Amino acid sequence: MTDRSLADEELQTARLSLRRPTATDIDAIHVIHSDPLTCLHNPSDALARHEEAEELYQRWNDQWQRCGYGYWVVRRHGSPLQLGFCGVKPMALSDMKVLNLFYRFDSEAWGQGLASEAATAVATWASRHVPDLPLIARVRPANVASHRVAIRAGLTRAEHLDGTGYDGFDWIFAANLPD
Ligand SMILES: CC(C)(COP(=O)(O)OP(=O)(O)OC[C@H]1O[C@@H](n2cnc3c(N)ncnc32)[C@H](O)[C@@H]1OP(=O)(O)O)[C@@H](O)C(=O)NCCC(=O)NCCS
Repeated sequence: MTDRSLADEELQTARLSLRRPTATDIDAIHVIHSDPLTCLHNPSDALARHEEAEELYQRWNDQWQRCGYGYWVVRRHGSPLQLGFCGVKPMALSDMKVLNLFYRFDSEAWGQGLASEAATAVATWASRHVPDLPLIARVRPANVASHRVAIRAGLTRAEHLDGTGYDGFDWIFAANLPD
């Protein structure tokens, strides 16, 4: 059974703090999602106007209120700078209820192992607190950095679940699939 009483609004890793977003993160949501590099493989996620970031924040916050978990804002310990976002969202994949693992980081922060560190913490959190749902990542075939993050977070390729997503064909990585 899903344990929603143990919602963790803050997770810690060696270098990072992951916190539930607040309205003060809307500017960072806008900046990171309007950088063409961060949505290169998933253009459907790109944001143009600030109002779209406000709406996206509202959807993230609604999920936190509904589920007790969602996407976290990632910062280095002691730093106010938002490096990116990482978290999970329930969804259906091939008629199966799953948790989708999400990560998107400021391109200035890439290449330091930060997304892998955050995604690993989120995957560990999910395995403890939402153990009844498989964890999946939907990744465009050419998005090699994202494949690597999924693998580092403990997911493995699940070719039988591959299919068309919002931006074209997605490869699926998964953990905790039913036998
Ligand atoms: C995917 C993303 C989160 C990775 O962030 P990151 O902090 O640079 O990732 P890490 O530093 O943890 O690197 C993870 C691995 O990817 C590799 N990698 C990073 N950038 C790469 C690139 N451009 N090409 C190939 N490999 C790359 C790293 O070498 C590392 O490999 P390793 O596990 O073999 O050591 C970041 O590129 C991003 O935000 N992309 C845009 C959003 C996105 O595509 N999200 C995923 C949607 S499915």
